[in-house]
Amino acid sequence: MVDFLCPPFPYQLRPLQPADIDAVLAIEDQSFPSAARASFYRHELSENPLAFYQALVTGDSLLGYAGYWMMADEAHISILAVDPVWRGKRLGELLLLNLLWLACGQQALLATLEVRRSNVVAQKLYEKYQFEYVGERRRYYRDTGEDALLMTVMLNEGQYCQQLEPRRIDLFSHLSSAR
Ligand SMILES: CC(C)(COP(=O)(O)OP(=O)(O)OC[C@H]1O[C@@H](n2cnc3c(N)ncnc32)[C@H](O)[C@@H]1OP(=O)(O)O)[C@@H](O)C(=O)NCCC(=O)NCCS
Repeated sequence: MVDFLCPPFPYQLRPLQPADIDAVLAIEDQSFPSAARASFYRHELSENPLAFYQALVTGDSLLGYAGYWMMADEAHISILAVDPVWRGKRLGELLLLNLLWLACGQQALLATLEVRRSNVVAQKLYEKYQFEYVGERRRYYRDTGEDALLMTVMLNEGQYCQQLEPRRIDLFSHLSSAR
């Protein structure tokens, strides 16, 4: 098992657990036009061997969560969300960095994701980690009929995985000093 990141106090990353599902759904309600069902997460956490989900917590509180499906050599990011109260503190970045860290540890060659065309905030976060636009899926989201943009970053090119370490140091230093 590849190690996930160990951020500075008071934050902690750990695998998402079935006991987190209620808190996940509460964040989903405030984050997406339609929230996933509990049964989706129960399946993902208990029965999908390709799924890797992580929780960001402080004490007993879930601040955010993120996950990917490891499909052959591709880490397909399926979800990333931060509690609205905790946004703007680089915690979404922490969750993304942690996923990329794990994916590199699993020797993924690339990371991919879909993002709503209107979700500029998330796109900026992905661009910060060098994701590029590689296509779109028309009317991909059934709830609103919105298009999805496909974004990808190659993990096996240009020392990408090695360059996560200075990013980690910078982010941890920020999180420590912003306490
Ligand atoms: C997208 C999301 C995870 C970002 O989390 P966050 O903790 O607020 O973001 P961070 O503080 O870590 O910011 C990291 C980067 O995201 C981008 N970003 C964050 N907030 C932004 C804003 N209000 N406007 C523009 N860019 C923004 C910036 O690139 C930022 O880097 P910078 O600080 O160097 O400018 C969060 O807004 C969220 O949960 N949204 C709802 C769920 C969602 O859309 N998930 C993505 C599905 S594809």
